[in-house]
Amino acid sequence: NYYAIIMAGGIGSRFWPISRTSHPKQFIDILGTGKTLIQNTYDRFLKICPKENIYVVTNESYAGLVKEQLPDMGDNQILTEPVMRNTAPCVAYGCFKIESLNPDAAIVVAPSDHLILDEAAFVNAIEKSLETASEHQCLVTLGIKPSRPDTGYGYIQYTENAINGDFHKVKTFTEKPNLELARTFLQSGDFLWNAGIFVWSAKAIVKAFNSYLPDMFDIFAEARSVYNTDDERRHVSNAYQRCTNISIDYGIMEKADNVYVLPSEFGWSDLGTWASIYELSNKDYVGNAVIPAEKVIMYDSSNCMVNVPDEKLVILQGLHDYIVVESNNTLLICPRDQEQNVKQVVADVKQKFGTK
Ligand code: GDD
Ligand code: MG
Repeated sequence: NYYAIIMAGGIGSRFWPISRTSHPKQFIDILGTGKTLIQNTYDRFLKICPKENIYVVTNESYAGLVKEQLPDMGDNQILTEPVMRNTAPCVAYGCFKIESLNPDAAIVVAPSDHLILDEAAFVNAIEKSLETASEHQCLVTLGIKPSRPDTGYGYIQYTENAINGDFHKVKTFTEKPNLELARTFLQSGDFLWNAGIFVWSAKAIVKAFNSYLPDMFDIFAEARSVYNTDDERRHVSNAYQRCTNISIDYGIMEKADNVYVLPSEFGWSDLGTWASIYELSNKDYVGNAVIPAEKVIMYDSSNCMVNVPDEKLVILQGLHDYIVVESNNTLLICPRDQEQNVKQVVADVKQKFGTK
């Protein structure tokens, strides 16, 4: 009865030009491990559920990439969205479809672009969560001990009250607080970051849509009779046009009252910044992280993060603490501590050239 849904429709604009609208981060081997992030995500779930129970929800334009990178997936397991409407419709599509096939399903929903270093601990946490979610018909989220007042995360305040040992009742869930609030949360010590990995019974999440996003509930419940028929695509296309753009965090997690958090530790990183990727990459003795290593030659250079096409010959002389990234004929050279400006660069490029 265990299922997995991999959310793979985001565009990852912070990693421009490596991650672009046409080729977002989840489809890239950003750490140079030999596998892309979505391939690693899929492989982790193979340890938890049968391969025919793994689904990917992605934009129509990425269906080709998914098929290419996950050739074992059947066409009926790749759910495509005609437009980007954030994660709530993505979760609804996947979960309502699974619920129509198996009302007793327990489902883990996870991003496609995270790094998990301790796979055994991850598998253990997910299996326990699937059990708890089935047994208690609740919504479970995995919580990570926060290390800085990052405003890009959800913050979870939990109570001492626990079920099945470690699953704590969630008191408040605050998605992407402002800096001041994030600092307060961090200092108080009783908050965790939301890892963005959710586990629930099919019934509980369908019920939550009914309570907190009733319009979306109607839209996807209406489609019940067409899941797994020839009409599915046409109906879903139409459904997406009618959906509001909202994340599952704002739409449901902030509001629901049957949420439990499992404090977890499995070497998690959402690889949200070049800094986090640099930190996790293999580095030489002067701190250079270089992908690929063969054709990049460095003289008197240190603490640089270089990520360029395989065939490119690159020479660095006297460069320290820089990011050098090239992809799709676009080259970015930027001091490591100024990466936050890249977002603006992407917006400017789009305005000037009409592309990302
Ligand atoms: N199919 C589909 N459609 N997938 C999407 C869409 C969409 O419209 N939008 C985003 N995704 C995918 C992304 O590819 C990613 O794998 C995942 O859903 C999460 O989306 P993000 O856009 O990366 O969310 P976030 O990082 O801002 O916030 C979430 O993750 C944080 C942890 O990394 C939230 O859950 C936060 O609460 C959490 O702390
Ligand atoms: Mg993210």
